[in-house]
Amino acid sequence: MFGRKPLTAALLLILVMNIFRGHALPCHPSEYQRGNECCPKCLPGSRVKTDCTEFRSTSCLSCTEGTFMNQPTGRTQCLSCTVCDAGSGLKIKTSCTTKSDTVCEPQEGFYCLESREDSCMSAQRHTLCQPGQYIRQYGSALTDTECSDCSAGTYSNGTFPSCQPHTQCESMNLQLIKAGTVSTDVQCGEQSSNPTGIVIGVVVGVIFLVIGAAVLWKKGCLNSGRQQVPDGDG
Ligand SMILES: *[C@@H]1O[C@H](CO)[C@@H](O)[C@H](O)[C@H]1NC(C)=O
Repeated sequence: MFGRKPLTAALLLILVMNIFRGHALPCHPSEYQRGNECCPKCLPGSRVKTDCTEFRSTSCLSCTEGTFMNQPTGRTQCLSCTVCDAGSGLKIKTSCTTKSDTVCEPQEGFYCLESREDSCMSAQRHTLCQPGQYIRQYGSALTDTECSDCSAGTYSNGTFPSCQPHTQCESMNLQLIKAGTVSTDVQCGEQSSNPTGIVIGVVVGVIFLVIGAAVLWKKGCLNSGRQQVPDGDG
């Protein structure tokens, strides 16, 4: 409690001193201070080559390739252009000019993690949805992909925008070969591929052949017997 008041007074004093010091700098915002002089700043795209004197104005030089100055300045160096780091998932959105820094944006398939002003500083690859999940929301330059789990009876391999219902084999006159999962569809097969069906078909076929052969053979015997009977009326 007692320590508070002197501290507040000290802060107030510092504040007043700062205001005073601010007033002691009489240069206009379009000027910079050089000793006791106020010199005109150089225009965006350039920097100070020589400070002004009593007799002549500031002399300026254009920024060289790979450097820029985006505001009026009293600095003697332009700033280095930002490099969009491909390793950080970035690419150039707008190239650097002498008056503006490079603007970076996320590469295709990446989203921005951190941005400053208009430019992306670092990006990360979109999440890949797992098998058994569908893409609820595609990722953008600003947002990650959102995944959701498939419910029972549906499937997605992780690249579908929605989970697909398992194929109904019966409705296609096929039969179930392999059950489906949340990441794979069921496998359907032809009815005739049923081995029991083939066996029954073959057995029935053979039985009919045997019966048919027996009938023909018996008929043949009867016919040949009739021919042997002499014609009594002749
Ligand atoms: C997912 O399925 C689609 C269509 O069936 C296919 O083109 C793609 O290669 C599959 N992706 C994976 C990761 O299995």
